[in-house]
Amino acid sequence: MKYNLNEPFLEGKEEDYLLDVLRSKWLSTKGKHTRIFEEKIAARSGLKYALAVQSGTAAIHTAAMALGLKKGDKVIVPNYTCAGSIVGIVQCQAAPVLLDIEPDTFGLDAALVRKYIDRVKPAALMVVHIYGFPSRDTEEIADICRRKGIALIEDCSEALGAKINNRSVGTYGDIATYSIRSEKMIGVGEGGVVATNSRGLLDKAFYWASRAAPYRTDKDPYWKTYYYTGVGMNYLLPHLLGAVARAQIENFDRILKRKISVGRRYQELLGGMEGLRMQQLVRGHQPVFWLNIILLEQLSEEKVRRLGEDLIASGVQIRPGFWPLSDLPPFGKMRRGAQETGMRVLKKGIVLPSSVYLADDHCRKVDEVVKILATRLKNYI
Ligand SMILES: Cc1ncc(COP(=O)(O)O)c(C=O)c1O
Repeated sequence: MKYNLNEPFLEGKEEDYLLDVLRSKWLSTKGKHTRIFEEKIAARSGLKYALAVQSGTAAIHTAAMALGLKKGDKVIVPNYTCAGSIVGIVQCQAAPVLLDIEPDTFGLDAALVRKYIDRVKPAALMVVHIYGFPSRDTEEIADICRRKGIALIEDCSEALGAKINNRSVGTYGDIATYSIRSEKMIGVGEGGVVATNSRGLLDKAFYWASRAAPYRTDKDPYWKTYYYTGVGMNYLLPHLLGAVARAQIENFDRILKRKISVGRRYQELLGGMEGLRMQQLVRGHQPVFWLNIILLEQLSEEKVRRLGEDLIASGVQIRPGFWPLSDLPPFGKMRRGAQETGMRVLKKGIVLPSSVYLADDHCRKVDEVVKILATRLKNYI
């Protein structure tokens, strides 16, 4: 495609660190580069501790286990997100409760949280920062959780680097998770991170992600190496991927600058266009524009689809929004209340090319995408 949705930016020390790992012959978990990556991503997230795991989905499963979520525990989850947000909750047999999103940044709607929280009595809530935009009601939801003593998970899979009033997303809850699969803000192929300020939660995350092995220091007696005290997962990130992750986080300033240039350019060119809406730039919020979605409010669902096909045929790599979780067969029964906003984003939305490389040459390719879009759009109005 001429205009790519997303591409990894492998222009740092990826090759050097990978060769170092191969020469060291240590390919497994707990490698040096992984450790350095964990320190750096924790610092970058404004959190004390981070644990690298094999996917964002694994990170959420690990976080849910670390929080002690168990069979029957209710967890409020926003309905518009990647299925990866909910899978880890279901895997520990907790019971998600899906609430609709707000229309501004497509995050969990605090008004619905207020409406349902005392009826649902959740053990935890999840906030998801969709497409790199801080969820509009994060502060209010964090406040509700604090007052009621409910755990808060922040799924920051798409939002590494995003802030609210200079405070990083991920620091509002008890535990934050990231995906670092290849097309996320940083990417290694497949990977994820659990991050927290709580040493206790970090230790529990490590325990569950390393087959429930309680021993982790060199001081422990050697005969306890294969001693497990629970039925855990094997989720820790291998050293080869840790090497790429380290190079990526060390190059993150450059990646971020590019993503923000592309996002701001789209907002500048499309923000005020009639009949078209983007995620809102909330005052004090600093989004990272992981992806840029437009909602074509006046077009029918059928026309949005045809426009999408048209754009793909013109070399513009677009993609649809997420299917609301409540409309996916395994999660349908978990809905609570109407789910109109999430469904509207799917029906009216087109995700535009957002590759870091579109920032080249003063975002020339963003301008070209917008021109193609405007021309094609005329055929459907
Ligand atoms: C919001 C969100 N949560 C969770 C995930 C799951 O991450 P992974 O694909 O690394 O398992 C993703 C992305 O894939 C995501 O976008």
